[in-house]
Amino acid sequence: MKTENLEKLISKAKEAYKKAYAPYSKFQVGSALLDENGKIHSGCNVENAAYPSGSCAEEIAIGAMVAGGGRVIKEIVVIGLSSELITPCGACRQRIREFCNKETIIHICDIQKGYLKSFKIDELLAYSFGPNNL
Ligand code: THU
Repeated sequence: MKTENLEKLISKAKEAYKKAYAPYSKFQVGSALLDENGKIHSGCNVENAAYPSGSCAEEIAIGAMVAGGGRVIKEIVVIGLSSELITPCGACRQRIREFCNKETIIHICDIQKGYLKSFKIDELLAYSFGPNNL
């Protein structure tokens, strides 16, 4: 689902993608999200020689949102270069879940092909556990 903010989000996610630190996987990912205050926050993956200590692009973008005072993801773009859809990993689906609602749109994009597909959280994380469960 294309939205009025999509092109701006893609452009910010691309900027982050170019700065990704992915010397081990060589798989760069960028992400940009729009929060409830109309602010855009971005992130890229940041890998580590101790592999499990690496961070995903979405994780970094969400951290930037929280540090910037945002608490609700309205839309989030994930962008990379692959023949497959670069959908968020399981842990990032849960991270998005924490700060999204049923209307939040998760856009999957490609550096070369541009916009590909959008999802709602329920499609990516069925019967999820969230703040209301506690
Ligand atoms: N990665 C992300 O940053 N986001 C995703 O949605 C999928 C995977 C990163 C993690 C790791 O640095 C690299 O891509 C390969 O898995």
